[in-house]
Amino acid sequence: MGYRVVVAGATGNVGREMLNILAERQFPVDEIAALASRRSLGTEVSFGDKTLKTQDIDTFDFTGWDIALFAIGSDATKKYAPISAKAGCVVIDNSSLYRYDPDVPLIVPECNADAIHGYSKKNIIANPNCSTAQMVVALKPLHDRARIKRVVVSTYQSVSGAGKEGMDELWDQTKAVYNPVTDVPPAKFQKQIAFNVIPQIDVFMEDGSTKEEWKMMVETKKILDPSIKVTATCVRVPVFVGHSESINIEFEDHLDEDEARDILREAPGIMVIDKREPGGYVSPIECVGDYATFISRIRQDSTIDNGLNLWCVSDNLRKGAALNAVQIAEVLGREVLKKG
Ligand SMILES: NC(=O)c1ccc[n+]([C@@H]2O[C@H](COP(=O)([O-])OP(=O)(O)OC[C@H]3O[C@@H](n4cnc5c(N)ncnc54)[C@H](OP(=O)(O)O)[C@@H]3O)[C@@H](O)[C@H]2O)c1
Repeated sequence: MGYRVVVAGATGNVGREMLNILAERQFPVDEIAALASRRSLGTEVSFGDKTLKTQDIDTFDFTGWDIALFAIGSDATKKYAPISAKAGCVVIDNSSLYRYDPDVPLIVPECNADAIHGYSKKNIIANPNCSTAQMVVALKPLHDRARIKRVVVSTYQSVSGAGKEGMDELWDQTKAVYNPVTDVPPAKFQKQIAFNVIPQIDVFMEDGSTKEEWKMMVETKKILDPSIKVTATCVRVPVFVGHSESINIEFEDHLDEDEARDILREAPGIMVIDKREPGGYVSPIECVGDYATFISRIRQDSTIDNGLNLWCVSDNLRKGAALNAVQIAEVLGREVLKKG
């Protein structure tokens, strides 16, 4: 016997990837429901070699369903996640709504799968921000070895992190640069994204940081260790899929770059591609469709006592969202629900 699984937001960037990954990883599904807003009623989406017709979440009855993977944004999640949870269908949510709730575990299975048992307080589990997810996968094995004191990270985040509208805006603006008859003013982003970079993701906080930067700091503490200090600068770049991060790490203990490379090579979810030659590293376009978090450019930071620099790239729709959510569902199944 397998699971009755709901994918909410099945017409979106993350929801479509959730369906792909459930099928790819042969998650034990007995029945699957694809939900979105009423706008998408009847829209067809793929699940392996099957086609599903999208249902309206507003009229869907969650009773008798086991797991609901949510990717519908915070506002809709606020309305529908409690309905699912109350009906006994465990929500694994991709929005930021529940991430900072002490009664909701925030999980990256490579880092803190044990936190799964906290799900029962609300019947909800949170998935982290895409930039946090790939970073903590890289930090965890290094922290276990040499205790991280401080992380300085700059991100280069793709437009798919802003949903399908973000991808359309880059596409339309790029075409408009070559064919200036049509004007495509910024809508999803604050400035033109085509042939540009924008040092703002999400809203500004009082201290001058953006909410995305704040999320990376708070989520890293919740997932890995509250003692780790994180300072981030998050930047949107004209890349369709794949987030990149330049990460500088200061440790309590000395960690040699060769040992760090060996540790990362052995760590779950990581692929090290680190040749010190032209092209001997991974760029975002090469990680699209992959499960791994790719680490390159591992090198000592000689300006501090115990420092390392590295380059970290991953498919934000996969490890940053859909893959991580499916991995959480796998842990939930294995450790708690025990069907399939
Ligand atoms: N993209 C990423 O890298 C990433 C990473 C981590 C987390 N997330 C989070 O995942 C969520 C989805 O992101 P996305 O990139 O997939 O966005 P998207 O491509 O814009 O898709 C949004 C999905 O939500 C559905 N939706 C919107 N409003 C709804 C409502 N009122 N009721 C029911 N369904 C509704 C849409 O359905 P319709 O087609 O019917 O409008 C669509 O299926 C967001 O919370 C986002 O923050 C995204």
